[in-house]
Amino acid sequence: MSSRILGIESSCDETAAAVVADGREILSSVVASQIDVHRKYGGVVPELASREHLRQIVPVVREAMAQAGMKLGELGAIGVTQGPGLVGALLVGITYGKTLAAALGKPLVAVNHLEGHVHAVFLEAHKTGRQPNLPAVCLIVSGGHTVLYAVKRESETGREGSGLLSYRKLGQTRDDAAGEAYDKVAKLLGLGYPGGPILDRLANAANGAPAPVKFGPTKTRGNPLDFSFSGLKTAVLYHVREHAEYGPEIHRREEAIERGERKFEELLPLCTPQTLGLVREFQNAVVRDLVERTMAAAEELSVGSVLVSGGVAANSQLRETFEKRAKTAGMEVFFPSRALSTDNAAMIAAAAYPRLRAGILADVTLNADPSLALA
Ligand code: KG4
Ligand code: ZN
Repeated sequence: MSSRILGIESSCDETAAAVVADGREILSSVVASQIDVHRKYGGVVPELASREHLRQIVPVVREAMAQAGMKLGELGAIGVTQGPGLVGALLVGITYGKTLAAALGKPLVAVNHLEGHVHAVFLEAHKTGRQPNLPAVCLIVSGGHTVLYAVKRESETGREGSGLLSYRKLGQTRDDAAGEAYDKVAKLLGLGYPGGPILDRLANAANGAPAPVKFGPTKTRGNPLDFSFSGLKTAVLYHVREHAEYGPEIHRREEAIERGERKFEELLPLCTPQTLGLVREFQNAVVRDLVERTMAAAEELSVGSVLVSGGVAANSQLRETFEKRAKTAGMEVFFPSRALSTDNAAMIAAAAYPRLRAGILADVTLNADPSLALA
């Protein structure tokens, strides 16, 4: 049986399709981003997302097949994101995937989007000839999720050989996801949407700019491995409100964005050292919190590997800090490439593979599950 799987992803604002062989060889990966559609609203508008997915799904799948140099009939299975995500958006991919599977007479595999992010790490590791040791601790950190899992091989009888993984949730955000905090802080500073990439680069450009404010570690009652980012976002908001001098430069940047000048090189000259210092302090606080809690979990469980995935895993400071901390702790840290960190369908096809091997298949009754849990 061919093990080339077509993955389909439509849970949020990326319409994506990819073909992956044996769960690890990427034959094609196509991502149509909707950022330009949602930008003027400063976030994803669910109705617009569904409509865009409908427009994009057919050409995106076609392109993925063309890039892989394959015909639909040569596929071994179709893997589709079942959730979590926006229900209308998910339904587009699911309906398309179901129809395709039925028409071709191919197996259909339902994939949890979060498990896809975990598999993005394995896809990358395979490309670079490394393999994370399991059990591991995995941080998934994106615009919609900030969650920490213990990951191990499935030990349920009969399924060991399939490569299935099993998960235990160790902690999660109580409020905003880390990427959401990036997006909200960028918006209030007049830096456009999405916020992560631009804040990442501005923080790097802050150099020795004095800190206009310091943000202490976030305390959460109860589970010490839970995260919280809304307090930090509010602290940035209050700081900006209390200091009128931020007003005019925020306004200038909003005007620049309005004119379409949203590149780093265009926005950097419109940022005072005070703003750069603020952005750096914000990023320091987010990175410290993500790294400290993840490493605390890894040390507590005595694992050898730490996996980090999701859009925020593209952050340069997060990567560097994890590398340093893991080295000191004698652990290895694994990230996907930047392209595999953000939403894509290669990770969905990769996650579908062990499920296909274990015979865990979906049928025409498959429905979207907006709050599907991994553990
Ligand atoms: O995984 P993803 O593409 O979609 C979700 O499932 O949410 O993640 C998108 C999120 C956005 O919030 C974006 O601001 C953030 O990832 N992001 C970053 C960086 N690149 C993207 N955050 C921090 N630093 C980055 N370099
Ligand atoms: Zn995602």
